[in-house]
Amino acid sequence: MCGIVAYIGHQNASEIIIKGLKRLEYRGYDSAGIALMNDGLNVYKKKGKVSELEEFIKDKNMKSTIGIGHTRWATHGEPNDVNAHPHFSQSGKLAIIHNGIIENYSALKKDLENKGYTFRSETDSEVFINFIEDIFNNNEGTLEEAVRLALTKVVGAYAIVIMSSDHPDQLIAARKGSPMVIGVGKDEFFLASDATPIVEYTNEVIYVNDYEIALIKDGELTIRDTKDVKMTPYIQKVDMELEAIEKGGFEHFMLKEIFEQPKSIKDCFRGRLIANDGKLVLGGIREYANALTNANRIVIVACGTSWHAGLVAEYIFEEFCRIPVEVEYASEFRYRNPIISEGDIVIAISQSGETADTLAAMELAKSKGAIVLGVCNVVGSSISRVSHEGVYTHAGPEIGVASTKAFTAQLTVLTMIALRVAHRKGTMAEQRYRSLLAELETIPAKVEKALKTDDQVKKIAELFKDARNFLYLGRGYNFPVALEGALKLKEISYIHAEGYPAAEMKHGPIALIDEEMPVVVIATRDSSYDKIVSNIQEVKARKGKVIAIVSEGDSLIPTMVDFTIEVPGTHDALMPMVATIPLQLLSYHIAVMRGCNVDQPRNLAKSVTVE
Ligand code: F6R
Repeated sequence: MCGIVAYIGHQNASEIIIKGLKRLEYRGYDSAGIALMNDGLNVYKKKGKVSELEEFIKDKNMKSTIGIGHTRWATHGEPNDVNAHPHFSQSGKLAIIHNGIIENYSALKKDLENKGYTFRSETDSEVFINFIEDIFNNNEGTLEEAVRLALTKVVGAYAIVIMSSDHPDQLIAARKGSPMVIGVGKDEFFLASDATPIVEYTNEVIYVNDYEIALIKDGELTIRDTKDVKMTPYIQKVDMELEAIEKGGFEHFMLKEIFEQPKSIKDCFRGRLIANDGKLVLGGIREYANALTNANRIVIVACGTSWHAGLVAEYIFEEFCRIPVEVEYASEFRYRNPIISEGDIVIAISQSGETADTLAAMELAKSKGAIVLGVCNVVGSSISRVSHEGVYTHAGPEIGVASTKAFTAQLTVLTMIALRVAHRKGTMAEQRYRSLLAELETIPAKVEKALKTDDQVKKIAELFKDARNFLYLGRGYNFPVALEGALKLKEISYIHAEGYPAAEMKHGPIALIDEEMPVVVIATRDSSYDKIVSNIQEVKARKGKVIAIVSEGDSLIPTMVDFTIEVPGTHDALMPMVATIPLQLLSYHIAVMRGCNVDQPRNLAKSVTVE
């Protein structure tokens, strides 16, 4: 949450920063701001999107080769011009951009107020920069030293960049718990929350670690830790094409990402799955491959859509590997003193790799002796680094706030892991293993076919766009698909939706059903087909409007329901990857028809770096 961008070098900083903020807008978009060094240190900030900031600065002098910028997702203080970043210190000599939360800010604020400091905003970030200024003013030493000292006293999470009018040629940056990447160019440096604002200038990056402070001065970068020990920066190459972070002719990133799924699933197999040879190689899990195969129990921790992927994985692991699995909301797991025993494996699933609750759950599991494996999309992210080992989903950057291609890539990776374990463990016969590998390889083509339902789904969306509620039902492997369908709809169209296991409906939600209630039933031909047919009858008996997702060639369900959407058949365990496609399209079209901002839904942010 919140995106930060900074630049120091020889180019026009404001252009780089504004462009970068637009790339990071998925991280928060309620206000934006920029600070530059021209005739002194100047800050320009505005409530609203980066485009509003851009309009505001249009006729201002924005010439500068150094600057910092921020796009905000509000935590402390409502979204307005004053609470927007950057924040000045009291003297006006320092400016800060901050992503994260300072938990002890009210105590620090009280101390500072007692010393005569006054505050313009309600933010913890303004307290943070004044705390640094106060230390700097009351101690000998450099600003960098003051920042270091301040960081030993603040509690919470931060990625910060600080500019000083007394040192117009330097930037100081630091992180703990919130991401920060430094792009290394020729006599220039780019700092950002992720690599997307950087890749068009350089592919050489440094992922700043927790408790590190970077000083960029006179064209040189020095990184030290909070104990003042000099670190050797590890420069990595990022492998990200510019097209991957642009809309490429689609109206929205979400639509582009939905349509990218045949490719993103294939990218996920690449170099890992060769079905003809019965080969499945997961280079990311080597040292702990035996521990995983022999695990007594697997605990999956994740949030949101990634948690839904975890639920599908629970069914897959238990069926294929005969290992008991528990799927936990990371936010619950971390605060309930969970039992971790020897032989337990924890799998953390995250698209962004920065979700605060998931990270904390992993740290807790590690502290209790668990082996923690990550399933992550963003290379170099915090979660990928905290994991003992893991498998990247390689879905490419996901920019639409609603997760789509990351979900199907997570399912692909989790299926591959389960198949690998089942094969090693001998819980799956060779022939079944090979036929599942072959089936997995057909999924991109089946997803491609499912995408062809787009026009039909759009017509259905037109009919239901004004509904106030939706119910989504599924059983077995399709139960998490129902949850995911409901989440997609509510987060981007703001229609209330609930996902339920179809059989549970009669224990409560059936009371909601009347002729006004659209019920989406994922009723593909699987082992619970007959049961879900009965559930559909229960809905129809109460005049609910049923939209059924069925397997190609189903001749029964279309006679019972109001609308059917056909998807290609596949193995039960792989069906979530296919069945989820029309649900993504349905929520997308309904949201567009309702005039919602699909890529940046209200109140949400892509990367939830606060708990
Ligand atoms: C829903 C969505 C969120 C995320 C959740 C976890 O479309 O995107 O529910 O799935 O915030 O995020 P990651 O996977 O980045 O840990």
